[in-house]
Amino acid sequence: MTTAAKQTWSADRYDRNARFVSDLGADVLGWLAPVPGERILDLGCGDGALTMRIADAGASVVGVDASASMVEAARSLGLDAHIADGESLAFDREFDAVFSNAALHWMTDMAAVISGVRRALKPGGRFVAELGGLGNVAAIATAMRGVALARGGDPELAHPWAFPSADVYQALLEGEGFAVRRIALIPRPTPLPTEMSGWLETFRAPFFDQFGTDRHTALADTVALLAPSLRDAEGRWTADYVRLRVEAALEK
Ligand code: BEZ
Repeated sequence: MTTAAKQTWSADRYDRNARFVSDLGADVLGWLAPVPGERILDLGCGDGALTMRIADAGASVVGVDASASMVEAARSLGLDAHIADGESLAFDREFDAVFSNAALHWMTDMAAVISGVRRALKPGGRFVAELGGLGNVAAIATAMRGVALARGGDPELAHPWAFPSADVYQALLEGEGFAVRRIALIPRPTPLPTEMSGWLETFRAPFFDQFGTDRHTALADTVALLAPSLRDAEGRWTADYVRLRVEAALEK
């Protein structure tokens, strides 16, 4: 990954522009259904908002995230959180469940992630996750690609994510010995709390950084391309999210 492609996280900016991400995690938390005494790994715990809800259910939870800023924010809530690369997890049969919300699509080596999850789980353990699925933010990424092409930039920087279909993800899980209990691709148009520019700055700043002094006009062009599709008559923005939600388990 080039420096320009590297995503960095600010817990403050995330809180302003993306609090809805953990707020919308209620359904996948329902699939996890943590119970007191369970030991659970929250993979890509971010600032710990959902990790805290797992702890509140009485489980013993460990959060891991690649971002030092996010891990610091999670620790400030009193959580047991650590910096770790989700593509090379080092846990060995420690957890009753591995949970993840809105993080796995940043870990593009999906097979390596699933292999690490399998190693982290005890026999009979379950994996419950929600991530961007096929078609997620398609309009947003296409607008960025268009802006890159018009300006002689790199369109690849518009889409660093993995958004698998249900079939592809199920096959990867089964290849690691998981039985898939339920899996669903769920279109979820998501109202944004701020302008589209806030979303773009929070989640795809490296794309705009490539334009140097033209950064602001590239951002304005992207917003203008998206407005007819994703902004309503009152000026409110909706992101074209699609979720892939899954529950899979290992044999006892
Ligand atoms: C998502 O949660 O689907 C997502 C968030 C940021 C960038 C891309 C996708």
